Amino acid sequence: MGFKEGFLWGGAVAANQFEGAFDVDGKGLSVADVAMYKPNVDVKDYKNQVKVTSENIAKAIADKTATYYPKRRGIDGYHRYKEDIALYAEMGFKTLRFSIAWSRIYPNGDEKTPNQAGIKYYQDFVKELKKYNIEPLVTLSHYEMPLHLSLKCNGWADRSMIDEFLKFCKTCFESLPDVKYWLTFNEIDSVTRHPFTSAGIIPDRSQNLEQDEYQALHYQFVASALATKMCHEMIPGSQVGCMLTKLTTYPATCKPEDVLAALNKNMMNYLPTDVQVKGYYPRLVLEFFKKNNLNIEMTEQDLEALQKYPVDFISFSYYMSLLAAADESGLEMTSGNTIVGGKNPYLKATDWGWTVDPMGLRISLIELYDRYQKPLFIVENGMGAQDTLNPDGTIHDQYRIDYFKEHIAEMKKAVEAGVDLMGYTSWGCIDLVSASTSQMSKRYGFIYVDEDDEGNGTLDRYRKDSFYWYKDVIASNGEKL
Ligand code: BG6
Repeated sequence: MGFKEGFLWGGAVAANQFEGAFDVDGKGLSVADVAMYKPNVDVKDYKNQVKVTSENIAKAIADKTATYYPKRRGIDGYHRYKEDIALYAEMGFKTLRFSIAWSRIYPNGDEKTPNQAGIKYYQDFVKELKKYNIEPLVTLSHYEMPLHLSLKCNGWADRSMIDEFLKFCKTCFESLPDVKYWLTFNEIDSVTRHPFTSAGIIPDRSQNLEQDEYQALHYQFVASALATKMCHEMIPGSQVGCMLTKLTTYPATCKPEDVLAALNKNMMNYLPTDVQVKGYYPRLVLEFFKKNNLNIEMTEQDLEALQKYPVDFISFSYYMSLLAAADESGLEMTSGNTIVGGKNPYLKATDWGWTVDPMGLRISLIELYDRYQKPLFIVENGMGAQDTLNPDGTIHDQYRIDYFKEHIAEMKKAVEAGVDLMGYTSWGCIDLVSASTSQMSKRYGFIYVDEDDEGNGTLDRYRKDSFYWYKDVIASNGEKL
Protein backbone atom coordinates (compact mmCIF):
# COMPACT_ATOMS: atom_id res chain seq x y z
CA MET A 1 0.00 0.00 0.00
CA GLY A 2 1.03 3.62 -0.32
CA PHE A 3 3.42 5.15 -2.83
CA LYS A 4 5.53 2.86 -4.95
CA GLU A 5 9.26 2.53 -4.53
CA GLY A 6 11.08 5.09 -6.60
CA PHE A 7 8.13 7.51 -6.43
CA LEU A 8 9.42 10.81 -7.80
CA TRP A 9 9.00 13.36 -5.01
CA GLY A 10 10.20 16.86 -5.74
CA GLY A 11 9.31 20.38 -6.75
CA ALA A 12 8.73 22.46 -9.86
CA VAL A 13 9.88 25.82 -11.21
CA ALA A 14 9.81 27.55 -14.60
CA ALA A 15 12.67 29.49 -16.19
CA ASN A 16 10.71 32.70 -16.67
CA GLN A 17 9.73 32.88 -13.01
CA PHE A 18 12.99 31.60 -11.55
CA GLU A 19 16.02 32.55 -13.61
CA GLY A 20 15.90 36.33 -14.11
CA ALA A 21 19.07 37.40 -16.01
CA PHE A 22 16.78 38.15 -18.93
CA ASP A 23 19.47 39.80 -21.02
CA VAL A 24 22.53 37.91 -19.85
CA ASP A 25 24.77 35.66 -22.01
CA GLY A 26 22.89 36.37 -25.21
CA LYS A 27 19.34 35.64 -24.06
CA GLY A 28 16.60 37.28 -26.16
CA LEU A 29 13.29 38.69 -24.89
CA SER A 30 10.51 36.21 -24.24
CA VAL A 31 6.78 36.83 -23.92
CA ALA A 32 7.25 36.62 -20.13
CA ASP A 33 9.74 39.49 -20.14
CA VAL A 34 7.00 41.93 -21.14
CA ALA A 35 4.50 40.76 -18.50
CA MET A 36 3.87 43.78 -16.31
CA TYR A 37 3.33 43.95 -12.58
CA LYS A 38 0.80 46.64 -11.83
CA PRO A 39 1.19 47.94 -8.29
CA ASN A 40 -1.77 48.57 -6.00
CA VAL A 41 -4.18 46.25 -7.76
CA ASP A 42 -6.54 44.27 -5.58
CA VAL A 43 -5.35 40.72 -6.23
CA LYS A 44 -8.92 39.49 -6.32
CA ASP A 45 -9.83 42.01 -8.99
CA TYR A 46 -9.08 39.66 -11.83
CA LYS A 47 -10.67 41.98 -14.38
CA ASN A 48 -8.20 44.72 -13.61
CA GLN A 49 -5.06 42.96 -14.86
CA VAL A 50 -2.78 44.65 -17.38
CA LYS A 51 -4.10 43.96 -20.88
CA VAL A 52 -1.93 42.44 -23.58
CA THR A 53 -2.02 44.85 -26.52
CA SER A 54 0.47 45.69 -29.27
CA GLU A 55 0.83 49.10 -27.64
CA ASN A 56 1.66 47.70 -24.19
CA ILE A 57 4.18 45.29 -25.68
CA ALA A 58 5.91 48.11 -27.58
CA LYS A 59 6.06 50.12 -24.33
CA ALA A 60 7.55 47.17 -22.51
CA ILE A 61 10.24 46.65 -25.13
CA ALA A 62 11.22 50.30 -24.85
CA ASP A 63 11.31 50.12 -21.03
CA LYS A 64 14.67 48.69 -20.08
CA THR A 65 14.03 48.61 -16.33
CA ALA A 66 13.12 45.43 -14.54
CA THR A 67 11.09 47.27 -11.92
CA TYR A 68 7.68 46.70 -13.47
CA TYR A 69 8.62 43.51 -15.31
CA PRO A 70 9.49 41.16 -12.45
CA LYS A 71 10.00 38.09 -14.62
CA ARG A 72 13.08 39.78 -16.01
CA ARG A 73 14.75 39.50 -12.62
CA GLY A 74 12.99 36.36 -11.32
CA ILE A 75 14.77 35.25 -8.16
CA ASP A 76 18.15 35.32 -9.89
CA GLY A 77 18.13 31.55 -10.15
CA TYR A 78 20.42 31.92 -13.17
CA HIS A 79 23.27 32.80 -10.83
CA ARG A 80 22.13 31.05 -7.65
CA TYR A 81 20.92 27.69 -8.91
CA LYS A 82 23.72 25.72 -7.23
CA GLU A 83 22.73 27.01 -3.82
CA ASP A 84 19.08 26.21 -4.61
CA ILE A 85 19.78 22.70 -5.84
CA ALA A 86 21.77 22.01 -2.65
CA LEU A 87 18.65 22.98 -0.68
CA TYR A 88 16.43 20.70 -2.78
CA ALA A 89 18.94 17.91 -2.16
CA GLU A 90 18.77 18.63 1.57
CA MET A 91 15.00 18.06 1.40
CA GLY A 92 15.71 14.77 -0.34
CA PHE A 93 14.24 15.64 -3.75
CA LYS A 94 14.20 12.74 -6.18
CA THR A 95 13.29 15.00 -9.08
CA LEU A 96 13.17 18.65 -10.08
CA ARG A 97 10.84 19.95 -12.74
CA PHE A 98 12.28 22.99 -14.50
CA SER A 99 11.91 24.53 -17.94
CA ILE A 100 14.28 25.67 -20.63
CA ALA A 101 13.98 29.31 -21.66
CA TRP A 102 13.62 28.96 -25.42
CA SER A 103 15.01 32.49 -25.89
CA ARG A 104 18.23 31.50 -24.09
CA ILE A 105 18.82 28.84 -26.74
CA TYR A 106 17.40 30.70 -29.77
CA PRO A 107 17.22 34.37 -28.69
CA ASN A 108 14.82 35.38 -31.47
CA GLY A 109 13.58 31.90 -32.23
CA ASP A 110 14.34 31.99 -35.95
CA GLU A 111 18.16 31.86 -35.91
CA LYS A 112 19.82 28.99 -37.73
CA THR A 113 22.29 28.19 -34.96
CA PRO A 114 21.78 28.11 -31.20
CA ASN A 115 23.34 30.29 -28.52
CA GLN A 116 26.11 28.17 -26.99
CA ALA A 117 26.09 30.05 -23.68
CA GLY A 118 22.43 29.13 -23.21
CA ILE A 119 23.10 25.46 -23.91
CA LYS A 120 26.00 25.42 -21.47
CA TYR A 121 23.84 26.87 -18.71
CA TYR A 122 21.35 24.00 -18.92
CA GLN A 123 24.09 21.39 -19.25
CA ASP A 124 25.67 22.71 -16.07
CA PHE A 125 22.28 22.82 -14.39
CA VAL A 126 21.57 19.16 -15.21
CA LYS A 127 25.07 18.18 -14.10
CA GLU A 128 24.43 19.83 -10.76
CA LEU A 129 21.15 17.92 -10.33
CA LYS A 130 22.81 14.63 -11.23
CA LYS A 131 25.49 15.29 -8.61
CA TYR A 132 22.75 14.83 -6.00
CA ASN A 133 20.92 12.07 -7.91
CA ILE A 134 18.02 14.39 -8.63
CA GLU A 135 16.26 13.28 -11.81
CA PRO A 136 15.59 16.21 -14.16
CA LEU A 137 12.03 16.59 -15.47
CA VAL A 138 12.23 19.18 -18.22
CA THR A 139 9.42 21.29 -19.65
CA LEU A 140 10.29 22.44 -23.15
CA SER A 141 7.82 25.30 -23.29
CA HIS A 142 6.55 26.97 -20.15
CA TYR A 143 5.04 30.39 -20.99
CA GLU A 144 8.34 31.73 -22.36
CA MET A 145 8.50 31.60 -26.16
CA PRO A 146 10.74 34.15 -27.89
CA LEU A 147 8.91 37.47 -28.18
CA HIS A 148 10.25 37.94 -31.70
CA LEU A 149 8.24 34.93 -32.94
CA SER A 150 5.12 36.34 -31.38
CA LEU A 151 5.64 39.67 -33.15
CA LYS A 152 6.73 38.08 -36.41
CA CYS A 153 3.82 35.74 -37.04
CA ASN A 154 1.39 36.18 -34.15
CA GLY A 155 2.89 33.16 -32.43
CA TRP A 156 1.33 29.75 -32.69
CA ALA A 157 -1.50 31.03 -34.87
CA ASP A 158 1.02 30.36 -37.66
CA ARG A 159 2.08 26.90 -38.85
CA SER A 160 5.74 27.93 -39.17
CA MET A 161 5.96 27.69 -35.37
CA ILE A 162 5.98 23.90 -35.58
CA ASP A 163 9.35 23.89 -37.35
CA GLU A 164 10.80 26.55 -35.09
CA PHE A 165 9.78 24.53 -32.05
CA LEU A 166 11.16 21.28 -33.44
CA LYS A 167 14.47 22.96 -34.18
CA PHE A 168 14.60 24.08 -30.55
CA CYS A 169 13.64 20.58 -29.32
CA LYS A 170 16.36 18.97 -31.43
CA THR A 171 18.97 21.24 -29.85
CA CYS A 172 17.66 20.41 -26.37
CA PHE A 173 17.64 16.65 -26.95
CA GLU A 174 21.12 16.76 -28.51
CA SER A 175 22.53 18.84 -25.66
CA LEU A 176 20.87 17.02 -22.75
CA PRO A 177 21.00 13.33 -23.63
CA ASP A 178 20.94 12.32 -19.95
CA VAL A 179 17.47 13.71 -19.38
CA LYS A 180 14.92 10.93 -19.35
CA TYR A 181 11.65 12.77 -18.56
CA TRP A 182 10.34 15.57 -20.80
CA LEU A 183 7.12 17.58 -20.99
CA THR A 184 6.24 19.43 -24.18
CA PHE A 185 3.86 22.35 -23.45
CA ASN A 186 2.99 23.55 -19.96
CA GLU A 187 -0.80 23.73 -19.42
CA ILE A 188 -1.39 23.42 -23.15
CA ASP A 189 -5.14 23.98 -22.69
CA SER A 190 -4.49 27.51 -21.45
CA VAL A 191 -3.98 28.75 -25.03
CA THR A 192 -7.71 29.50 -25.06
CA ARG A 193 -7.56 31.39 -21.75
CA HIS A 194 -4.34 33.40 -22.06
CA PRO A 195 -3.31 33.17 -25.70
CA PHE A 196 -0.33 35.53 -25.45
CA THR A 197 1.42 33.89 -22.50
CA SER A 198 0.78 30.41 -23.78
CA ALA A 199 1.03 30.82 -27.54
CA GLY A 200 2.34 34.31 -28.31
CA ILE A 201 -0.96 35.43 -29.86
CA ILE A 202 -1.49 39.18 -29.54
CA PRO A 203 -5.27 39.57 -29.43
CA ASP A 204 -5.48 42.87 -31.32
CA ARG A 205 -3.64 41.28 -34.24
CA SER A 206 -6.18 38.50 -34.60
CA GLN A 207 -9.14 38.84 -36.94
CA ASN A 208 -10.87 35.97 -35.21
CA LEU A 209 -9.30 35.30 -31.83
CA GLU A 210 -11.17 32.10 -31.04
CA GLN A 211 -10.24 30.64 -34.41
CA ASP A 212 -6.57 31.56 -33.86
CA GLU A 213 -6.57 30.04 -30.39
CA TYR A 214 -7.88 26.65 -31.49
CA GLN A 215 -5.62 26.73 -34.55
CA ALA A 216 -2.64 27.42 -32.28
CA LEU A 217 -3.67 24.58 -30.01
CA HIS A 218 -3.79 22.27 -33.01
CA TYR A 219 -0.30 23.31 -34.14
CA GLN A 220 0.98 22.72 -30.61
CA PHE A 221 -0.58 19.23 -30.60
CA VAL A 222 1.21 18.42 -33.84
CA ALA A 223 4.49 19.92 -32.60
CA SER A 224 4.16 17.95 -29.37
CA ALA A 225 3.55 14.67 -31.23
CA LEU A 226 6.54 15.24 -33.52
CA ALA A 227 8.71 16.24 -30.56
CA THR A 228 7.69 13.01 -28.82
CA LYS A 229 8.79 11.02 -31.86
CA MET A 230 12.08 12.94 -32.03
CA CYS A 231 12.77 12.49 -28.33
CA HIS A 232 12.22 8.74 -28.49
CA GLU A 233 14.57 8.50 -31.48
CA MET A 234 17.30 10.73 -30.08
CA ILE A 235 17.19 9.63 -26.42
CA PRO A 236 16.44 5.91 -26.20
CA GLY A 237 14.40 5.08 -23.12
CA SER A 238 13.13 8.64 -22.71
CA GLN A 239 9.55 9.35 -21.70
CA VAL A 240 7.49 12.31 -22.86
CA GLY A 241 4.40 13.65 -21.15
CA CYS A 242 1.66 16.13 -21.98
CA MET A 243 0.71 18.72 -19.37
CA LEU A 244 -2.85 19.74 -18.54
CA THR A 245 -4.35 22.34 -16.23
CA LYS A 246 -6.79 20.05 -14.44
CA LEU A 247 -9.81 22.26 -13.91
CA THR A 248 -12.13 19.95 -12.03
CA THR A 249 -15.63 21.39 -12.23
CA TYR A 250 -18.67 20.35 -10.20
CA PRO A 251 -22.30 21.14 -10.97
CA ALA A 252 -23.52 23.99 -8.77
CA THR A 253 -26.67 21.96 -7.97
CA CYS A 254 -28.07 18.56 -8.93
CA LYS A 255 -30.37 20.21 -11.47
CA PRO A 256 -29.75 18.34 -14.74
CA GLU A 257 -29.08 21.67 -16.49
CA ASP A 258 -26.22 22.38 -14.08
CA VAL A 259 -24.90 18.83 -14.40
CA LEU A 260 -24.81 19.31 -18.16
CA ALA A 261 -23.02 22.66 -17.82
CA ALA A 262 -20.32 21.03 -15.66
CA LEU A 263 -20.08 18.07 -18.04
CA ASN A 264 -19.42 20.41 -20.98
CA LYS A 265 -16.74 22.34 -19.09
CA ASN A 266 -14.96 19.15 -18.07
CA MET A 267 -15.21 17.79 -21.59
CA MET A 268 -13.53 20.87 -23.04
CA ASN A 269 -10.88 20.68 -20.33
CA TYR A 270 -10.09 17.14 -21.49
CA LEU A 271 -9.72 18.17 -25.13
CA PRO A 272 -5.88 18.27 -25.07
CA THR A 273 -5.39 15.02 -23.19
CA ASP A 274 -7.92 13.29 -25.44
CA VAL A 275 -5.90 14.32 -28.48
CA GLN A 276 -2.45 13.80 -27.00
CA VAL A 277 -3.20 10.46 -25.36
CA LYS A 278 -5.81 8.87 -27.60
CA GLY A 279 -4.34 10.36 -30.78
CA TYR A 280 -7.45 11.86 -32.31
CA TYR A 281 -10.02 14.64 -31.80
CA PRO A 282 -13.22 13.51 -30.08
CA ARG A 283 -16.30 13.80 -32.30
CA LEU A 284 -17.95 16.05 -29.73
CA VAL A 285 -15.12 18.55 -30.13
CA LEU A 286 -15.24 18.42 -33.92
CA GLU A 287 -18.94 19.21 -33.68
CA PHE A 288 -18.17 22.09 -31.34
CA PHE A 289 -15.77 23.47 -33.97
CA LYS A 290 -18.44 23.18 -36.66
CA LYS A 291 -21.18 24.80 -34.60
CA ASN A 292 -18.93 27.71 -33.74
CA ASN A 293 -17.68 28.21 -37.30
CA LEU A 294 -14.16 27.34 -36.33
CA ASN A 295 -12.36 26.08 -39.41
CA ILE A 296 -9.22 24.51 -38.07
CA GLU A 297 -6.67 23.70 -40.70
CA MET A 298 -5.62 20.05 -40.17
CA THR A 299 -3.69 18.12 -42.79
CA GLU A 300 -3.64 14.36 -43.27
CA GLN A 301 -0.03 14.35 -42.05
CA ASP A 302 -1.04 16.24 -38.90
CA LEU A 303 -3.70 13.69 -38.04
CA GLU A 304 -1.30 10.85 -38.74
CA ALA A 305 1.32 12.38 -36.41
CA LEU A 306 -1.25 12.74 -33.62
CA GLN A 307 -2.26 9.15 -34.02
CA LYS A 308 1.25 7.67 -34.32
CA TYR A 309 3.03 9.55 -31.55
CA PRO A 310 0.92 9.79 -28.40
CA VAL A 311 2.52 10.71 -25.09
CA ASP A 312 3.93 8.18 -22.63
CA PHE A 313 2.37 9.70 -19.54
CA ILE A 314 -0.01 12.45 -18.46
CA SER A 315 1.17 15.25 -16.24
CA PHE A 316 -1.06 17.92 -14.81
CA SER A 317 -1.37 20.85 -12.44
CA TYR A 318 -4.04 20.83 -9.76
CA TYR A 319 -4.74 23.72 -7.39
CA MET A 320 -8.48 24.16 -6.96
CA SER A 321 -11.91 23.19 -8.24
CA LEU A 322 -14.81 25.26 -9.55
CA LEU A 323 -18.57 25.20 -9.97
CA ALA A 324 -20.58 25.46 -13.17
CA ALA A 325 -24.26 26.25 -13.66
CA ALA A 326 -26.52 26.65 -16.68
CA ASP A 327 -27.24 30.16 -15.46
CA GLU A 328 -24.12 31.56 -13.82
CA SER A 329 -25.72 34.86 -12.87
CA GLY A 330 -26.64 33.47 -9.47
CA LEU A 331 -23.17 32.09 -8.74
CA GLU A 332 -20.55 33.82 -6.66
CA MET A 333 -17.49 33.91 -8.91
CA THR A 334 -13.90 33.51 -7.82
CA SER A 335 -10.52 33.30 -9.47
CA GLY A 336 -8.54 30.11 -9.87
CA ASN A 337 -5.57 28.96 -11.87
CA THR A 338 -5.79 30.85 -15.20
CA ILE A 339 -9.57 30.90 -14.89
CA VAL A 340 -12.57 32.42 -13.17
CA GLY A 341 -15.47 30.21 -12.13
CA GLY A 342 -18.19 29.54 -9.58
CA LYS A 343 -17.13 29.44 -5.95
CA ASN A 344 -17.94 26.33 -3.95
CA PRO A 345 -19.55 27.38 -0.62
CA TYR A 346 -18.30 24.19 1.06
CA LEU A 347 -14.64 25.06 0.54
CA LYS A 348 -12.20 27.52 2.06
CA ALA A 349 -10.17 29.71 -0.28
CA THR A 350 -6.66 31.19 -0.31
CA ASP A 351 -6.08 34.94 -0.06
CA TRP A 352 -6.14 34.99 -3.87
CA GLY A 353 -9.56 33.37 -3.98
CA TRP A 354 -8.45 29.91 -5.17
CA THR A 355 -10.56 27.29 -3.42
CA VAL A 356 -8.80 24.60 -1.40
CA ASP A 357 -10.17 21.19 -2.37
CA PRO A 358 -7.93 18.25 -1.43
CA MET A 359 -10.58 15.66 -2.23
CA GLY A 360 -10.83 17.25 -5.65
CA LEU A 361 -7.29 16.01 -6.24
CA ARG A 362 -8.36 12.44 -5.54
CA ILE A 363 -11.37 12.91 -7.81
CA SER A 364 -9.11 14.32 -10.54
CA LEU A 365 -6.65 11.44 -10.30
CA ILE A 366 -9.39 8.85 -10.48
CA GLU A 367 -11.14 10.58 -13.37
CA LEU A 368 -7.93 10.92 -15.36
CA TYR A 369 -6.78 7.37 -14.74
CA ASP A 370 -10.20 5.93 -15.46
CA ARG A 371 -10.41 7.86 -18.72
CA TYR A 372 -6.92 7.14 -20.09
CA GLN A 373 -5.28 4.36 -18.09
CA LYS A 374 -1.86 5.91 -18.58
CA PRO A 375 0.63 6.73 -15.81
CA LEU A 376 -0.06 10.10 -14.20
CA PHE A 377 2.35 12.66 -12.79
CA ILE A 378 1.24 15.61 -10.62
CA VAL A 379 3.68 18.30 -11.68
CA GLU A 380 2.10 21.29 -9.93
CA ASN A 381 0.16 21.67 -6.73
CA GLY A 382 0.46 24.18 -3.93
CA MET A 383 -0.85 27.21 -2.18
CA GLY A 384 0.03 30.82 -2.87
CA ALA A 385 0.22 32.68 0.45
CA GLN A 386 1.89 35.65 2.09
CA ASP A 387 4.67 34.62 4.48
CA THR A 388 6.42 36.50 7.26
CA LEU A 389 10.16 36.32 7.63
CA ASN A 390 10.90 36.57 11.35
CA PRO A 391 13.99 38.41 12.64
CA ASP A 392 15.57 35.06 13.56
CA GLY A 393 15.25 33.83 9.96
CA THR A 394 12.33 31.46 10.59
CA ILE A 395 9.09 31.34 8.61
CA HIS A 396 6.14 29.61 10.26
CA ASP A 397 3.90 28.43 7.43
CA GLN A 398 1.61 25.90 9.09
CA TYR A 399 -1.15 26.84 6.57
CA ARG A 400 1.05 25.55 3.75
CA ILE A 401 1.87 22.35 5.64
CA ASP A 402 -1.87 21.80 6.19
CA TYR A 403 -2.57 22.34 2.48
CA PHE A 404 0.07 19.82 1.39
CA LYS A 405 -0.79 17.33 4.12
CA GLU A 406 -4.43 17.21 3.04
CA HIS A 407 -3.61 16.97 -0.65
CA ILE A 408 -0.97 14.27 -0.26
CA ALA A 409 -3.32 12.25 1.96
CA GLU A 410 -5.94 12.30 -0.81
CA MET A 411 -3.31 11.49 -3.40
CA LYS A 412 -2.37 8.44 -1.36
CA LYS A 413 -5.99 7.30 -1.26
CA ALA A 414 -6.14 7.55 -5.06
CA VAL A 415 -2.97 5.46 -5.36
CA GLU A 416 -4.41 2.90 -2.97
CA ALA A 417 -7.55 2.83 -5.11
CA GLY A 418 -5.39 1.74 -8.05
CA VAL A 419 -4.20 4.92 -9.78
CA ASP A 420 -0.74 4.60 -11.35
CA LEU A 421 1.07 7.72 -10.14
CA MET A 422 4.71 8.35 -11.09
CA GLY A 423 5.48 11.32 -8.89
CA TYR A 424 4.60 14.61 -7.31
CA THR A 425 6.36 17.94 -7.79
CA SER A 426 4.88 20.78 -5.76
CA TRP A 427 4.71 24.11 -7.54
CA GLY A 428 7.29 26.77 -6.76
CA CYS A 429 9.31 24.70 -4.29
CA ILE A 430 11.27 27.89 -3.91
CA ASP A 431 9.39 31.24 -3.86
CA LEU A 432 9.33 32.76 -7.34
CA VAL A 433 7.51 35.37 -9.41
CA SER A 434 3.82 34.57 -9.83
CA ALA A 435 2.75 33.64 -13.35
CA SER A 436 -0.60 35.41 -13.22
CA THR A 437 0.11 38.51 -11.14
CA SER A 438 3.91 38.84 -11.43
CA GLN A 439 3.99 39.30 -7.65
CA MET A 440 6.67 37.94 -5.33
CA SER A 441 4.33 38.22 -2.38
CA LYS A 442 2.27 35.28 -3.65
CA ARG A 443 4.59 32.62 -2.31
CA TYR A 444 4.47 28.85 -2.83
CA GLY A 445 7.87 27.69 -1.63
CA PHE A 446 9.40 25.52 1.04
CA ILE A 447 12.26 27.97 0.64
CA TYR A 448 11.69 31.67 1.28
CA VAL A 449 13.39 34.21 -0.98
CA ASP A 450 14.01 37.66 0.41
CA GLU A 451 12.58 39.78 -2.40
CA ASP A 452 9.48 41.97 -2.56
CA ASP A 453 7.12 42.85 -5.40
CA GLU A 454 9.31 45.77 -6.47
CA GLY A 455 12.47 43.68 -6.48
CA ASN A 456 13.92 44.97 -3.19
CA GLY A 457 15.64 42.47 -0.91
CA THR A 458 18.84 40.50 -0.46
CA LEU A 459 17.60 37.48 -2.46
CA ASP A 460 18.86 35.34 0.42
CA ARG A 461 17.19 31.96 0.81
CA TYR A 462 15.64 30.72 4.12
CA ARG A 463 14.14 27.38 5.11
CA LYS A 464 10.45 27.60 6.06
CA ASP A 465 8.81 25.21 8.55
CA SER A 466 7.36 23.39 5.53
CA PHE A 467 10.91 22.68 4.36
CA TYR A 468 11.54 20.36 7.32
CA TRP A 469 8.05 18.88 7.05
CA TYR A 470 8.44 17.99 3.35
CA LYS A 471 11.86 16.49 4.04
CA ASP A 472 10.18 14.01 6.40
CA VAL A 473 7.44 13.29 3.88
CA ILE A 474 10.01 12.36 1.27
CA ALA A 475 12.17 10.36 3.67
CA SER A 476 9.15 8.28 4.68
CA ASN A 477 7.90 7.96 1.06
CA GLY A 478 4.70 9.77 2.00
CA GLU A 479 3.94 7.75 5.13
CA LYS A 480 4.70 10.53 7.60
CA LEU A 481 2.42 13.47 6.85
C1 BG6 B 1 0.36 27.43 -13.34
C2 BG6 B 1 1.65 27.71 -14.05
O1 BG6 B 1 -0.61 28.10 -14.04
O2 BG6 B 1 0.20 27.83 -12.00
C3 BG6 B 1 2.76 28.26 -13.20
O3 BG6 B 1 2.08 26.61 -14.80
C4 BG6 B 1 2.17 29.18 -12.16
O4 BG6 B 1 3.68 28.87 -14.04
C5 BG6 B 1 1.26 28.37 -11.24
O5 BG6 B 1 3.08 29.93 -11.44
C6 BG6 B 1 0.67 29.18 -10.11
O6 BG6 B 1 0.04 30.31 -10.61
P1 BG6 B 1 0.34 31.78 -10.07
O7 BG6 B 1 -0.39 32.65 -11.00
O8 BG6 B 1 -0.16 31.82 -8.69
O9 BG6 B 1 1.81 31.95 -10.15
